[in-house]
Amino acid sequence: MVEQTVQIISNERDTDAYFQLTLQAPEIARATQPGQFMHLRIPPLREALLRRPFSIFQANGETVAVLYKTVGKGTNALAKMRAGEELSAIGPLGHGFTVPAGGGETPLLVAGGYGMAAMYLLAERSPQKGIVFVGGRQRVDILCEAEFRKIGWEVRATTEDGSYGEKGLVTQPLVAELKRGGRNRKLFACGPTAMLKAVAKIAEEFQVPAEISTDEHMCCGVGVCLTCVVPIKTASGWEYQRTCTEGPVFDSRNVLWEIAK
Ligand SMILES: Cc1cc2nc3c(=O)[nH]c(=O)nc-3n(C[C@H](O)[C@H](O)[C@H](O)COP(=O)(O)OP(=O)(O)OC[C@H]3O[C@@H](n4cnc5c(N)ncnc54)[C@H](O)[C@@H]3O)c2cc1C
Ligand code: FES
Repeated sequence: MVEQTVQIISNERDTDAYFQLTLQAPEIARATQPGQFMHLRIPPLREALLRRPFSIFQANGETVAVLYKTVGKGTNALAKMRAGEELSAIGPLGHGFTVPAGGGETPLLVAGGYGMAAMYLLAERSPQKGIVFVGGRQRVDILCEAEFRKIGWEVRATTEDGSYGEKGLVTQPLVAELKRGGRNRKLFACGPTAMLKAVAKIAEEFQVPAEISTDEHMCCGVGVCLTCVVPIKTASGWEYQRTCTEGPVFDSRNVLWEIAK
């Protein structure tokens, strides 16, 4: 993990409220594992001391990219930044996904909205190709489908309003796929908490392992403030673990949803 000042290479609108930010950050790029994130300080933001976490979407040699949605003060200030300007980045942070071994489980990825960004490196580095189930409220929430297809993955999209792909929730085609049968499959999920809970339930029902990337508010991002904790089962009971250090990725069987905030 390094903290460094990094230069923006590009910061372009992707679709509607989503932007793709590419940074010159060779040390972070080289160290990044799928499912890890960066904590960015956005200088134009008045309260810039508070960083914002973003999953690392792509890491290519010298550069890292994130896909972000403008939802508030930080992301709106970020969207106004231009190539050549500088940010402070800490990364790569957190405990990411386990990349399936060659000849091992077939990965089924489940993503909601910007959760797609957290899954791309996993798909790119997995020797086993699988299926990506992606869902969103409407068509503009379906991100980077082309990137996944380009690396040989099948993508099945759902939208709640039916404006793209199958109408409904992302878990519908997932359940249909699991009902078709097949051996040795593993689920990986990133998206809103309601979706993660549903995926955990489905994994239990079909008795398939699942790794889920939790989305909790963060302050420090490096394990100090305890803002981001979730209750996790342990050998002797349960304890709160930090999603910024022990997570954000956890085995779905270990997350105690009934106690979680
Ligand atoms: C590990 C991790 C990875 C993330 N990866 C991405 C990513 O790849 N792309 C992306 O667009 N966003 C991602 N996020 C969410 C992103 O960090 C928040 O959207 C961002 O911090 C909001 O900052 P803001 O100043 O614009 O919003 P604020 O003004 O702080 O808040 C605006 C609204 O956004 C909500 N919000 C703030 N943080 C979160 C959060 N963590 N989850 C859900 N809602 C939040 C607030 O409750 C509020 O309603 C990730 C979050 C985590 C914890
Ligand atoms: S955000 Fe501070 S401990 Fe996780």
